[in-house]
Amino acid sequence: MCGIIGYTGVKGAQEIMLDALEILEYRGYDSAGIAVCGEDSCVRIRKCAGRVKDLRLLCEKDGILGTCGIGHTRWATHGGVSDANAHPHRFGKVTVTHNGIVENYRDLVQRYRLEERLQSQTDSEVAAAVLDHFYSGDPLAAIRKTVLKLKGTFALSIMFEDIPGTIFAVRNVSPIVIARAQGGSMLASDVTVLGQYSKEYFVLPEFYVAVLKAGGVELYDMAGETAEPEWLTVNWDVDRSGKGGYPFYMEKEIMEQPQVIRETVLPRIQGGIPDLSGDGIPDSLLADCTRICVVACGTAMHAGLVGKALMQSLVRIHMDVELASEFMYTDVIVDEETLVIAISQSGETIDTLEAVKHAKKNGAKTLAIVNVRGASVARASDYVIYTNAGPEIAVASTKAYTTQLAVLYLLTGRMAYVRGSFGEEEAKAFAGELMRVPEVMQKVLDRREEIHYIARSILNAQDVFMMGRGLDHAILLEGSLKLKEISYIHSEAYASGELKHGTIALITEDTPVVAVVTQDKVKSKEFSNIKEVQSRGAGVILFIKETFGLEKDAVWDSVFMLPAMEDGFMVMPASAALQLLAYYVSLDKGLDVDKPRNLAKVVTVE
Ligand code: AGP
Repeated sequence: MCGIIGYTGVKGAQEIMLDALEILEYRGYDSAGIAVCGEDSCVRIRKCAGRVKDLRLLCEKDGILGTCGIGHTRWATHGGVSDANAHPHRFGKVTVTHNGIVENYRDLVQRYRLEERLQSQTDSEVAAAVLDHFYSGDPLAAIRKTVLKLKGTFALSIMFEDIPGTIFAVRNVSPIVIARAQGGSMLASDVTVLGQYSKEYFVLPEFYVAVLKAGGVELYDMAGETAEPEWLTVNWDVDRSGKGGYPFYMEKEIMEQPQVIRETVLPRIQGGIPDLSGDGIPDSLLADCTRICVVACGTAMHAGLVGKALMQSLVRIHMDVELASEFMYTDVIVDEETLVIAISQSGETIDTLEAVKHAKKNGAKTLAIVNVRGASVARASDYVIYTNAGPEIAVASTKAYTTQLAVLYLLTGRMAYVRGSFGEEEAKAFAGELMRVPEVMQKVLDRREEIHYIARSILNAQDVFMMGRGLDHAILLEGSLKLKEISYIHSEAYASGELKHGTIALITEDTPVVAVVTQDKVKSKEFSNIKEVQSRGAGVILFIKETFGLEKDAVWDSVFMLPAMEDGFMVMPASAALQLLAYYVSLDKGLDVDKPRNLAKVVTVE
């Protein structure tokens, strides 16, 4: 949450930062601001509640010339959405932007007698005040003393009034990446934005201080010794970060799925069999564990639920899926024989990161399925498989989810093979069906206007229920989240058999029901459950595997025939269809599809 940017070099800092902040808005978008060190060496701030476009208007009227600056786009935690609470914050000689939460800010306010001197209600301004308190000409010493006082998470970019042209950065947990770019040096919260400017970057190690100057970047440890950055290469095409002619990133990212799934899967099929040796995953890791536990949040957790259904049925291994935010507080049993799989698009979700650390402390082996190379969850885990989805900008996750699923299919196939549940022929057949996913998914995408038409029937609904059994239920949990987060329609996904244990009381003729039927073994039960809601007046939108056919006397509000795959793979075409349903509802309601209210793409607060 919150995006930070910094630039020092030979070009105008204001324009570079405004462009970068627009990209970074997916991390938070309730207020924005920049501080630029002007040609007269004075630091000036422009900030406001609202979007980066509002900040841009402010800067057009009253801009700041200068080649060094820091910027911020906010997702409010401490202090409401207001101009004063927007970053950057200046205190004395110090100007900062901050991502994270300073948990002990109240103690610090008391200890350094700041009550009367603060302009905002933020914990971030307190960090600036403590830095100013310790600053007497030696920036590294002031930063060192300050971070020892801060409890919580922070990514701080800092300018000192009497050191023009220089940006300092330090972090604990919350990310900062740094690159040489635009004729100078840049820092940002994540590589999605820096990747536009440079292929080479490094992740600022925790509790190291980076010093950015026009001529280069220096890195120091807490003892003041210089250190060498570990340079990484951006693992996606910069071209992929634009909207590519689509009105929203979400549509573009939905449409990219066949290609990115292909890129995720094909390099990992060797001799016709799923093979993860290129990722450094030893077969022993998959063969020796007695239990699997997924830790993840939101969409990534839903991917885990699909993985659980696959693994349990095909590998016959015990698998749990835990909300990462609950993992540490619910005494989940993990030990040396447990393989903990952390799934995260950003690799920066703090709950997932903390869950990985907790699992390691308990002796578990940890495997990350992450999209962003070098992200914290990847680095904290023993093993990592990257999803190759490329940058995902829309807050609503689509291609990251289906590439996570693709990796879970690969893991399931390999695990079944090394543990003897699959013979060679079965492993090859499984991989063959997986390789067919892009082509089948493309068929759904090509028929997106049919789904657009269906979407119109729920535009004005207050509530939508979704129902299915087994894998169909797992798919719908994600479909329902998509609809909620971007269309603001209340939606619940229910295991069909469970509805009549309470929730069916809510079904009326005004509650559209979305049903997914793709699993032969539960299809007749699913149809019975659908009849139960139809008898209570609900109109049903049906997504059904095309080879199942429809009963002659049944009445549907709408039907979408899903192109057929083996039942275990129907998750993929069905997911694309449900993503499109949510997308078109949001689009036709005239909402900001990519930036739904109250949300942020990367959740770095607990
Ligand atoms: C997805 O549409 C959501 N925006 C959200 O649930 C997301 O999947 C979750 O916050 C986890 O993020 P991560 O994959 O980056 O860890």
